Amino acid sequence: MDYKQKIRVIPDFPEPGIRFIDITTLLKDGANFRSAIDDLAAKFKNERIDLVVGPEARGFVVGTPVAYALGAGFVPVRKPGKLPAPTSRFCYDLEYGKDALEIHKDAIKPGQRVLIVDDLLATGGTTRATIKLVEELDGVIAGLAFMIELSYLNGRQTLPDYKVVSLVQY
Ligand code: PRP
Repeated sequence: MDYKQKIRVIPDFPEPGIRFIDITTLLKDGANFRSAIDDLAAKFKNERIDLVVGPEARGFVVGTPVAYALGAGFVPVRKPGKLPAPTSRFCYDLEYGKDALEIHKDAIKPGQRVLIVDDLLATGGTTRATIKLVEELDGVIAGLAFMIELSYLNGRQTLPDYKVVSLVQY
């Protein structure tokens, strides 16, 4: 399938100079949505994935159906203050300021094989933070899967130790 045809690019959102890659136009097309999820899951069907970990919010939209397709569990990574049980937190730098992500401390058992799934790989900051949270709990990263990769931001180059899969590249 030509997923790029189904994805909309919005110039100057959320601020001037940013091209926003909008996947809502792909998600609302049932055949393409299913096919994109199946394609991502297929790349990891032999990797014995125990858990898919997805960062809020669009990582939930893509990560949960991939987990379902693989027969794996799903673990949310959330912005601070959203998860109810004890959490680990990782703080990281943004272009301007700082951000943080959290995971439940009991979400992953040591040695469980984890696939991190998000809609988009840009700079890789969100993914690196998610990797830190998983590895701190002694989860084993089996791969990283994205619908979209902004290749010109070189996120992949910051993740040399991992199997990285994306469906559409810009
Ligand atoms: C977007 C996107 C990825 C991240 C990619 O999330 O869904 O999670 O940015 O960028 P990076 O590779 O430079 O970290 P956003 O922070 O906008 O949150 P949202 O999914 O809640 O909209």
